[in-house]
Amino acid sequence: MSERVNIPQLNRMKADRQKMVCMTAYDFETARLVDKAGAEMILVGDSGARFALGYEDANEVTLDEMILMTRSVRRGAQHAMVVGDLPFMSYQVNVEDAVRAAGRMVKEANADAVKLEGGEDYAPTVKAIVRAGIPVMAHMGLTPMMAIGSGGYLNQELAPVEDQIRRDALTLQEAGAFSVVLTRVPPALATALTHELRIPTLAGGGAGDDCDGQVCVMHGVFGMTVDHLEKGSLYGPLAKPFLDTAGAFIADVRAGKPVRSRRN
Ligand code: KIV
Repeated sequence: MSERVNIPQLNRMKADRQKMVCMTAYDFETARLVDKAGAEMILVGDSGARFALGYEDANEVTLDEMILMTRSVRRGAQHAMVVGDLPFMSYQVNVEDAVRAAGRMVKEANADAVKLEGGEDYAPTVKAIVRAGIPVMAHMGLTPMMAIGSGGYLNQELAPVEDQIRRDALTLQEAGAFSVVLTRVPPALATALTHELRIPTLAGGGAGDDCDGQVCVMHGVFGMTVDHLEKGSLYGPLAKPFLDTAGAFIADVRAGKPVRSRRN
């Protein structure tokens, strides 16, 4: 069995200009598939609130729910580094809460690292979590948590100006973050930051192709939802073969064909 991906390995990949991949997963078998496909990291993102749990808004997911999803993913991932997302209000009130939440992610879910959304204001939080021995992936730009009161994730204005994003990224690097996800950051800025930062940058959607790696929110990119059957997706849509397979089974049962003894 190959070793689990670690931070020095990700740093070497950046130095060697070898692209890295972080895919989302929220359950055991999907994690096994992603691991087998060869992704270096698996993010148990709060996007699981929508795709795994059916909430309207990612901010509804609780720390307990994130821990449950992360624990199942970690059991499935033999090779990839598993990053558990800290959900809304699990780390914002104070640094102690944040360290406790990150600690639960590691002790109860066996996560290899945690991710949190926020800019330079969270430097003391990142520092304290890292000091506790827990690696932190930073996440900034236009993020789901910033969407509160702005009409939804995809309707936000580019609220933090570019200088602020640069300051956020450099400050959180100095605070000890081992990587940074850039979501809907103008591609030119994402490219510049990729050169300026020592730590790997990951494009989390809408940040171009020149970061050190990409985050693939699978349900969206691979079209794993009913909605993608109509609107399509960048890859897939995987919902189509699933629906065809389920439809074939249903049709066979309804036609009175043997299904339990069937072999392809
Ligand atoms: O929750 C998630 O999937 C994320 C990505 C958008 C990076 O945070």
